[in-house]
Amino acid sequence: MAALLREFCTILHVHLIAVFDLIRQLFTPHCYAKGVVNQNGHIAIVTGGASGIGFETTKKLCTNGMRVFIASRSEEEANDAIERIRRDDPEASVEWMYLDLASLMSVRRCASTFKSYDLPLHVLVNNAGVMIPPFMKTEDGFELQFQVNYLGHFLLTLLLSDLLIKTGVHNKCARIVNVSSVAHICEDLDMNNLIDRTFYGKYSSYSNSKFAIILSSYRLHQKLMTRGNHVTVNCVHPGVVNSELFHHYHWALQPLRRICAMLHVLKTPEEGSETSVYVALSTELEGNGGLYFANCVAEKSSSRTYDKCLQNELWDRSIELASVTEKELFYD
Ligand SMILES: NC(=O)c1ccc[n+]([C@@H]2O[C@H](COP(=O)([O-])OP(=O)(O)OC[C@H]3O[C@@H](n4cnc5c(N)ncnc54)[C@H](OP(=O)(O)O)[C@@H]3O)[C@@H](O)[C@H]2O)c1
Repeated sequence: MAALLREFCTILHVHLIAVFDLIRQLFTPHCYAKGVVNQNGHIAIVTGGASGIGFETTKKLCTNGMRVFIASRSEEEANDAIERIRRDDPEASVEWMYLDLASLMSVRRCASTFKSYDLPLHVLVNNAGVMIPPFMKTEDGFELQFQVNYLGHFLLTLLLSDLLIKTGVHNKCARIVNVSSVAHICEDLDMNNLIDRTFYGKYSSYSNSKFAIILSSYRLHQKLMTRGNHVTVNCVHPGVVNSELFHHYHWALQPLRRICAMLHVLKTPEEGSETSVYVALSTELEGNGGLYFANCVAEKSSSRTYDKCLQNELWDRSIELASVTEKELFYD
């Protein structure tokens, strides 16, 4: 009963935050990525890059001269995305790699496939996500949102860190862009109860996954800086964007979403990708990390995201949960 009540409060909280964000969106001019220069064939990976915000991010990275690897589940969807990008930009350098974040094995395979190409890695955009699906466990035994939104990306990032470290140089850091959400504010993450929650609250699970991304981003950035590595880690809230992410949203609220999209109250995926592109490429942000961005502006994330003990605790626990071996830890 208490858990049900708590989830009800989270649902209210998420919707209030979303309405507040929508009002802010309406009254703040949409901002475009400034300081973006041609990347001369530099390499990027975008998870979930075949649709929604990820697709538009991929497209803009290509337009700015990057060679982009879309890491996603469906080859068909990716080929369609590649065709659409090449229709507008025949020179675009874009390809596909299989990645299912709901499988840690798949994450490992994707990282080793990329490493087998023997390429540098300048930008990693951890964009893929799911929101409020029905309760589902992954093959690794974790709740779907926790693994797809957080743990899978945590592992992918760790496995690719050595490449990012090798690629980043002084005045041209490699960049990790983690797509979070303003919904992180509504979290109720409990480290004693991280994966064994008896009650599945889909909204709190989504908020917690987006909160966890921020905690581990700040921790990773700190670790990389302490070691003197030229890699920055930042988080992004893309805005409230009309996309397939709302697929699991209650059917009765879908017409409202469509009306908001028609009235342009919601951002388009193209607009939603702007902050990711800004954080991935802008020269204005060279060397800056450990930050949270919305509408191309650095903002404060919730106060608990800056809790160093919590960051450390989650980091250590995530290493354990993702079965990261000592050999895979870039800092050992
Ligand atoms: N839309 C918003 O208002 C909003 C607000 C805040 C934050 N965000 C965040 O922005 C990011 C992009 O969302 P979006 O709005 O563009 O949603 P979207 O259109 O639903 O895109 C999500 C992407 O994630 C991929 N994905 C889902 N499960 C996956 C898995 N197991 N393995 C690999 N890829 C998987 C999807 O690929 P498939 O086609 O294979 O499912 C899809 O390409 C998400 O992280 C989301 O949480 C969105």
